Amino acid sequence: MNQKLEKLKQNVIKCKNCNLHKTRTNSVPGKGNFKSDVIFVGEAPGKNEDKNGEPFIGIAGKKLSAALEEANVSRDEIYITNVVKCRPPDNRVPNTDERNTCQEYLKEEIKIIKPKIICVLGNTAFNSVLGGSEITKFRGKIIRKDNQLYFISVHPAATIYNQKLIKVLKKDIKKLFKLIRELNNNKEIKIDIEQSS
Ligand code: URA
Ligand code: SF4
Repeated sequence: MNQKLEKLKQNVIKCKNCNLHKTRTNSVPGKGNFKSDVIFVGEAPGKNEDKNGEPFIGIAGKKLSAALEEANVSRDEIYITNVVKCRPPDNRVPNTDERNTCQEYLKEEIKIIKPKIICVLGNTAFNSVLGGSEITKFRGKIIRKDNQLYFISVHPAATIYNQKLIKVLKKDIKKLFKLIRELNNNKEIKIDIEQSS
């Protein structure tokens, strides 16, 4: 374990910076390989995650694992986190204050891990991280902002009752890891959107 990441994890565990600490069972720090080329960013912990203190371990997590499996990637090769680290009551979307307050942790995770690419999962993460909306229009695309690459995909939870979307998620994750291989081989990649801050 990376020491800075371990310290960050401890800070998240005891954090009371926003109202979500009042209703959580456990904070859910990011988890995975600190040497990963990619950080996956979801929305917020759900019921199972809140109970166990680990990200993406419920049904949405199973969908994500299935998509990774098809790309021949195991969960322990990558790093997974969320925009907010505590579960919003009744799984409501985290509000602006909660997202802004928790943002320092995500920024810190990115600074420590220095991923080649950040995979943004679903509208809440897309909006929080890049100010985006209309995920269905932007999924599968590569965005560059401030010298950081981002890849956009749908949220695994959205695929639970939607066979079409699970195919989309699987296709996107395959594309993402093909891209990472190309980046590692110093190949030129095509940026879909250049975003300025
Ligand atoms: N949905 C998310 O966005 N994150 C999790 O950790 C679990 C479900
Ligand atoms: Fe702290 Fe983030 Fe949890 Fe709010 S959601 S209490 S900022 S860790």
